Amino acid sequence: MASTRLQLVFLAPIIALLVSSRALGAAAMAGSSLAAAQSGVFSLDSYGARGDGTHDDAQALSNAWKAACASPRPAVVLVPGGKRYLLSEVVKLSGPCRSASVTLTVQGTLVASPNRADWSDRDRRHWIVFRAVDGLTVNGGGVIDGNGETWWKNSCKINKALPCKEAPTALSFHYCTSLRVQDLKIVNSQQIHMSIEDCTNVQVAGLSITAPGTSPNTDGIHITRSNAVQVTNCKIKTGDDCISIENGTHNLHVSHVVCGPGHGISIGSLGDDDSRAEVSGITVDSVRLYGTTNGARIKTYQGGSGYARDITFQNMVMGGVKNPIIIDQSYCDRAKPCREQGSAVEVSNVVFRNIRGTTVTKDAIKLSCSRNAPCHGITLQNIDLRMEGGNGAAESTCQNAKWRKAGTVLPQPCTSQNETRRQVAATEQPL
Ligand SMILES: *[C@@H]1O[C@H](CO)[C@@H](O)[C@H](O)[C@H]1NC(C)=O
Ligand SMILES: *[C@@H]1O[C@H](CO)[C@@H](O)[C@H](O)[C@H]1NC(C)=O
Repeated sequence: MASTRLQLVFLAPIIALLVSSRALGAAAMAGSSLAAAQSGVFSLDSYGARGDGTHDDAQALSNAWKAACASPRPAVVLVPGGKRYLLSEVVKLSGPCRSASVTLTVQGTLVASPNRADWSDRDRRHWIVFRAVDGLTVNGGGVIDGNGETWWKNSCKINKALPCKEAPTALSFHYCTSLRVQDLKIVNSQQIHMSIEDCTNVQVAGLSITAPGTSPNTDGIHITRSNAVQVTNCKIKTGDDCISIENGTHNLHVSHVVCGPGHGISIGSLGDDDSRAEVSGITVDSVRLYGTTNGARIKTYQGGSGYARDITFQNMVMGGVKNPIIIDQSYCDRAKPCREQGSAVEVSNVVFRNIRGTTVTKDAIKLSCSRNAPCHGITLQNIDLRMEGGNGAAESTCQNAKWRKAGTVLPQPCTSQNETRRQVAATEQPL
């Protein structure tokens, strides 16, 4: 009995000390969050971030996000300028948030760990993920750096001896509504730079997305299962698609985008493994492509069902593009050849209008459609595509394509549904 009391007497000051230091810590935390709550700005530096590029600041970002997301007033999570914040794990920033709007302002740099072992096999597909946030803005003029070199070196596309494994998308948005992504540099992603999935009412503007032309699978912007999306004023130079438009995309408007190097603007691949695909209401306007493998492309696998329709590519300039205009309904990227099948994703009401520039292969216009589901309602209007350097004849080829011509179309389009037409290249015009 006595000894217990004695112990208590001895322990009491220690307990008091522990309690008070905890209280102090909490008070300090409460102080910073009180200041944040008043100003509405939740700086990573107030949540213990070092910003030295070596210590992991992922927890600081998560904590600042949680506080901002719980704020009753519009809140800003600030990544201060002039510093590099290392995020060496997957960071999930989830809603719903309490206030009607939350902003992540990146003035400095968020940089990913170069160490692939920092990703567990449980989730190798993501780095920074926003989920289920309404009224989210990401802006600030800063940099999101995927630090992807080690991932590229270990890609099976670069080193054929290695197994094919997934790599992270730098910036993902899942189930976000009223989303704005503006004024950011996204560089050297491990794989896709930015992915918009299951989102509605999205505005993307003023992005600069850059990775080497040789980096594997580094799509610029990937869009799927999303409605009412606008992408404008972006510069995208990567090793894969500039913008890839996948299944479930409806009402997408892309304008004033410059692409290249990379694989161009692609709708698809759709219908893989006999799946259903639905894509409609796509406009690609005032886009320039330089040195890309494709310009305006729609690609579907054999088999599959559904549709890709009401699509317009217009006011485009192509410089040294391999396949400026291409619909390919027998796309295959498998080791084994894909066999011909009875069904296909139906491609219809597609307009290619006011498209000029140069091609580096003779395939300027290629409408290669499925025998069982011919493309229909294809319009070619005011097109002028020539071999780069006046180097021979550009061609147009058509298989199973029901199309019409308006205005001048060079190379002269095929007259039947199944034909190849050559046109002797005239002198190249400056772009
Ligand atoms: C594509 O979207 C449609 C309609 O939303 C859906 O039924 C289909 O399963 C999706 N296909 C794939 C491959 O996810
Ligand atoms: C087009 O050519 C393919 C073979 O390349 C042939 O099977 C098909 O019947 C032709 N279609 C028409 C309309 O001539």
